[in-house]
Amino acid sequence: MTPDGIRKFLGKDWTETEALIRSSLGSDIDLLNTTNEALLSNSGKQLRPLMSLLVARACSGGSTTEDSIRFAAASEMLHNATLLHDDVVDGSTERRGVPTVMSVLGGPAAVLIGDYWLVKSMENILASPTHSEEVTRIFSKTLSDLAEGEMLQLQKAACCDTDEEDYYRIIYSKTASLFEATGLSAAISVDAPSALVEAIRAYSVSLGTAFQIKDDILDYSGEPKIGKPTGVDLGEQKITLPLLGALRSVDGEEDAAIRRKVMQIHDHPQFKDEIRSFVFSHSGNEYASMRLDEYVEKAVDALKVLPDSKEKNYLVAIAEFTASRDR
Ligand code: IPE
Ligand code: IPE
Ligand code: MG
Ligand code: MG
Repeated sequence: MTPDGIRKFLGKDWTETEALIRSSLGSDIDLLNTTNEALLSNSGKQLRPLMSLLVARACSGGSTTEDSIRFAAASEMLHNATLLHDDVVDGSTERRGVPTVMSVLGGPAAVLIGDYWLVKSMENILASPTHSEEVTRIFSKTLSDLAEGEMLQLQKAACCDTDEEDYYRIIYSKTASLFEATGLSAAISVDAPSALVEAIRAYSVSLGTAFQIKDDILDYSGEPKIGKPTGVDLGEQKITLPLLGALRSVDGEEDAAIRRKVMQIHDHPQFKDEIRSFVFSHSGNEYASMRLDEYVEKAVDALKVLPDSKEKNYLVAIAEFTASRDR
């Protein structure tokens, strides 16, 4: 399974979604238009809208509605808005193998373009004649989750006292909540019965959690294909699951010593390699991979109540791809 294979399988549903994303973003402001074109011509994996269309079809015996297309487009547009903002928050210079908008046009422009994508995304939701209120509420919650997640992450980075409970709250808020909104809105677009809606919620939250754990493992692994700088989490004093996993095997004193080093990483850049070696020698990535596999399994389990279909098989494949991906 590759995202490309799923795009082909989705056929017209996919081409309509892409066309809607593009037409939603047209502007007569040259700088905005050319930047949007550049972003659209180098899109990422587009996992959220692919999952969205598969969910709509898996919950309806294979058909979609105009709302399915609207909500699939909205999920990818909102995702891109959060990346534009996230790169400002994180000071990131590269994404999808190219320089970020933040590094080319500066933080102010990146924030404004992110706002534009966000509002255009919401307009697609508002265009729904029957589900706009319900789905607006769902995505509004996700937007406040996102801001809270990024703020909690900043708060925790300042004192380096993140524990696993904090970590899971952060990744639910900044990543899994958008997967949840994507899955729920897709199920709602085809008026799925409530048992299926709840199954899709469980699938989407576990998938989103697994997705961010993998992102955090890739950040330690230094995988060159990922298309964004690695090792940045530690540089930003973010304590993620690989480090938390390694810390489980040491006593309180050593734990405190490592956390003090994370706090001082700006003044002592050599601590970064030391902490990275600590993560590898204490099997931190193995621990995170174990948790990752559990969430993938939970996601796949949640799909059991769905009737068998090709779409369902692809949803299983997306969960498995999340764990094996290298970008
Ligand atoms: C990146 O998401 C942000 C995270 C939630 C880790 P993706 O890895 O889905 O980004 P693109 O859209 O494929 O570049
Ligand atoms: C991902 O956060 C979730 C968002 C809010 C976009 P990260 O900061 O870990 O994402 P990357 O690694 O920059 O893609
Ligand atoms: Mg980031
Ligand atoms: Mg990351």
